Amino acid sequence: MFQEKKTLFIPGPTPVAPGLLRATSRPVINHRGPEFHELFQRVRSSLGKLFHTQGKVFILTGSGTSAMEAAVANTISPGDKVLVLVGGAFGERWAKLTEAFGAQVERLAYPWGTAVCPDRVREALAKDESIKAVFATQNESSTGVANDIEAIAKARGDHPALLVVDAVSSFGAMELDMDGWGVDVAATASQKCLMMPPGLALVAFGQRAWQAASDAKAPRFYLDLRQYDAFADIGETPFTPNVHLCFALEEAVGMLEREGQQAARDRHLLMRNMVRAGLAALGLELLVKDEKAASPTVTAVLGGDLDIPRFRRIAEDEFGCVLSGGQGQLKTTTFRIGHMGYMLPVDMVGLLAVIELALVRAGKSVEFGQGVKAAQQVLLEEV
Ligand SMILES: Cc1ncc(COP(=O)(O)O)c(C=O)c1O
Repeated sequence: MFQEKKTLFIPGPTPVAPGLLRATSRPVINHRGPEFHELFQRVRSSLGKLFHTQGKVFILTGSGTSAMEAAVANTISPGDKVLVLVGGAFGERWAKLTEAFGAQVERLAYPWGTAVCPDRVREALAKDESIKAVFATQNESSTGVANDIEAIAKARGDHPALLVVDAVSSFGAMELDMDGWGVDVAATASQKCLMMPPGLALVAFGQRAWQAASDAKAPRFYLDLRQYDAFADIGETPFTPNVHLCFALEEAVGMLEREGQQAARDRHLLMRNMVRAGLAALGLELLVKDEKAASPTVTAVLGGDLDIPRFRRIAEDEFGCVLSGGQGQLKTTTFRIGHMGYMLPVDMVGLLAVIELALVRAGKSVEFGQGVKAAQQVLLEEV
């Protein structure tokens, strides 16, 4: 079997748009020279529009977790109380990270596969004026749940806590109106909906959060955003940036601008609807039952009696489609499908055909075409 072509249907890294890959093969330039200065300023100002903030956007060399760590290190002091919304592996990551920085962490746990209820956030905050920050996950990639960040921000009301959001697997595919909603910090990464290779992280600080950055006492050096801010004035980063990924980032932002933010969101919703309809038609059980909470970028499927590792191996080795396993407490009971970034809705038709084939090869009785047909019907209603 030809093993050279594999398509990633995993929740990141995602397929890289060819134009962005080409950008990564340009000759390197001086990261302290005028060409980089101009590129850096252009990209930062475009990113401000994507985050919808008048605040500061920082470009870091690292994965999404480095942006999350920068968010924590620059807002928290040891001993601060924080409220962490935990309904999956990435909510748990916020909890571990804030604990590592010495925060007193209160976990607001909600069942994996459901969205957090904003009223519970309101109640938890009402009990404690001293909570410094709420840490939330916009798109919980381990469960395929999209949380309503606008509603969480509203639930905070007049409470002074900062709202810090992991937008790693949603940025570019879900709305995030930082200033309009009152989100103080948002973190994301290059290898998801931005269609880029892994390696860049972005973190945006609104005005209130920037004030907190100068008050925060957490020890930090590489991720001390005050240094990044000082260098940003001259179009540089304090440490050598990944110049090639900055080239690609400019192209990625251009692609999103040309498509339009709303159109990109609609495309992801359509892909989600096609995948959910196709899987349901095949009799597979979706983890997220509530349509409103279903992520536009990743869908988790309960395997039931399916031998998930074998099914995934067949999908990949025999049909060239890479699917993801489960994560955390869902590791052995679910598989996940990423439908994010450089993908078209019509790609979901091929994906469902592969899922049908792999199910049959893994020993399930499936009527060919049922999943494909359901997805096609959803697509036809939209075109
Ligand atoms: C929601 C979410 N948060 C955080 C991360 C961590 O990102 P990284 O692996 O780039 O550090 C991921 C990665 O899958 C994610 O999906």
